[in-house]
Amino acid sequence: MLKSDKYEIVSELARRRGFFWPSYEIYGGASGFITYGPLGTLLKQKIEEKIRNFLIRPLNILEMESSIITPAKVFEASGHVKAFREPMVECLKCNQRFRADHLLQEQTGLSDTQTEKLNLHELGKEIITHRIKCPECEGKLSLPRYFMTMFKTTIGPYSKEVGYGRPEAAQGIFVEFKRLYETNREKLPLGIIQMGHALRNEISPRQGPVRLREFNIADLEFFFDPENPKCSKLKEITNTTLHLIPAPLKKKEGKKAIEVTVKEALQKAYIKTEWQAYFMVLAKHLLSELGIPADKQRFIEKLPWERAHYSAQGYDQEIYFNRWGWTEISGHNYRTDYDLRQHMKHSGVDMRVFKKHEKPITVRRRVLEPVLTEIGPVFKNNASKVIALLSEANAEEVEKSLDQNGYYIAGSFKILPIHVKITYKEVEETGRRFIPHVVEPSFGIDRLVYAALEFAYDQQKDRVVLRLPREIAPIQVAVFPLVSKDGLAEKAKEVYVMLREGGFMAEYDEAGSIGRRYARADEVGIPLCITIDYQTLENKTVTIRERDSWKQTREKINALVESLQDYLNCKANFADIGDAIEK
Ligand code: GLY
Repeated sequence: MLKSDKYEIVSELARRRGFFWPSYEIYGGASGFITYGPLGTLLKQKIEEKIRNFLIRPLNILEMESSIITPAKVFEASGHVKAFREPMVECLKCNQRFRADHLLQEQTGLSDTQTEKLNLHELGKEIITHRIKCPECEGKLSLPRYFMTMFKTTIGPYSKEVGYGRPEAAQGIFVEFKRLYETNREKLPLGIIQMGHALRNEISPRQGPVRLREFNIADLEFFFDPENPKCSKLKEITNTTLHLIPAPLKKKEGKKAIEVTVKEALQKAYIKTEWQAYFMVLAKHLLSELGIPADKQRFIEKLPWERAHYSAQGYDQEIYFNRWGWTEISGHNYRTDYDLRQHMKHSGVDMRVFKKHEKPITVRRRVLEPVLTEIGPVFKNNASKVIALLSEANAEEVEKSLDQNGYYIAGSFKILPIHVKITYKEVEETGRRFIPHVVEPSFGIDRLVYAALEFAYDQQKDRVVLRLPREIAPIQVAVFPLVSKDGLAEKAKEVYVMLREGGFMAEYDEAGSIGRRYARADEVGIPLCITIDYQTLENKTVTIRERDSWKQTREKINALVESLQDYLNCKANFADIGDAIEK
């Protein structure tokens, strides 16, 4: 790999200084897993806090946590058991297995969009036509087959109790929707976020923190009334611009982003729902706050065959990485009522919400009447369950299914036309029952951590300077005695303890020359270094040195806490604190 490969350089720094490294190294490693060291853990926590500040606070979004191991029923209902699979080939010589579409992309230059469209048969043909070889030993490859990328297990000692490691945190929210809605006093819109581990049994992950088998995800499900889809915050963002590659342009002109305002994106239906546009703007600002410049960010729409099975419209937010080029960092999907509807169908539990009309209205409705004389003898002990399911069913949908398919599925029961009678009635309606729709912004937290590091990495006069934005720097301040004699070390430790007790993440270092200590601090992105010198003993002031400018200022010890707080929370510039020291 070239020396200029930033991924190599950043990974080496991350390993050496304790941000992250490949897990289980003492046993030869296991690809697709990383361990966060102390600095990485702090950085990840700070990024999660940024997500809270950006996505949760403005809309009073609620946070929740559910389990990773999930009964199979949940992912059967959600469609993942069928859809969560990737095409795999095996080397017939060395038996290593790879993602078929990824090998095709790597060895032919075909794009994601081109390979995603191919079914197994077509992928196989392309692999033969382009003479795709094993990247490890150049051996011949097998024909592709699908591999399900959810981790499968059993729950307890029963082989039939199948469970899966959740590949997304979203389903933990959908299955609990009823309770979450009730605890939110039955109000829409309702946003729920879950951050935590998720598992995907990737076939051949070779991209460090960018493609992991166990990773950290932030899924935000924002539920709203599809008949009232207006975003209450639209005014605040209507003139914000986004770099977009909408699907029609992606197909026509290749991958060139256009810069459009939110207003234009909505008018031209590049983005279909206002709330989705709102979260895309928040995502752009979030990335900027993590140090990713606007020109290295874009949103690219998924073509229908690239979209996840639950998505009616999907944009990937991408950033430009030095090694991999444009890479997804977050996904923005309009999931409609797909997930709640699926869980309603499979569990038999009504997931609809009720919205009262201002005053009752009279409407002509289809009415579904179960024919008890037919249902009883056929469904026997389950008859009352079937009747309950039919009483919750949407008469229009039942009629449509009976017309189109000749049957309707209620829970796990097959309903035939003889089992129901459909009539019309004038009814007085006090409100409306409906399944809320959902837009989902979803972030890969590990990718955000890596992105923050890659974009912070810089060199100045042969030194590495990690220019992490001050608010996410894992260590905020380092304290050094100029020398460790004459009482300077004791004084420095006093200042260090004062800062830690004042709530700062501070580090104390007395080893080596002061220049080496500054260099060590710069390399892990500590925004400020404080040096205790002989003048400190005379007038109770210290030197503060800024990582980004290498400028210095002198500040009174008793003003330090306030000055540091202002600077680290971006309320003050370096020039605003202490008395500048001219060199
Ligand atoms: N919930 C987002 C995803 O599965 O990627």
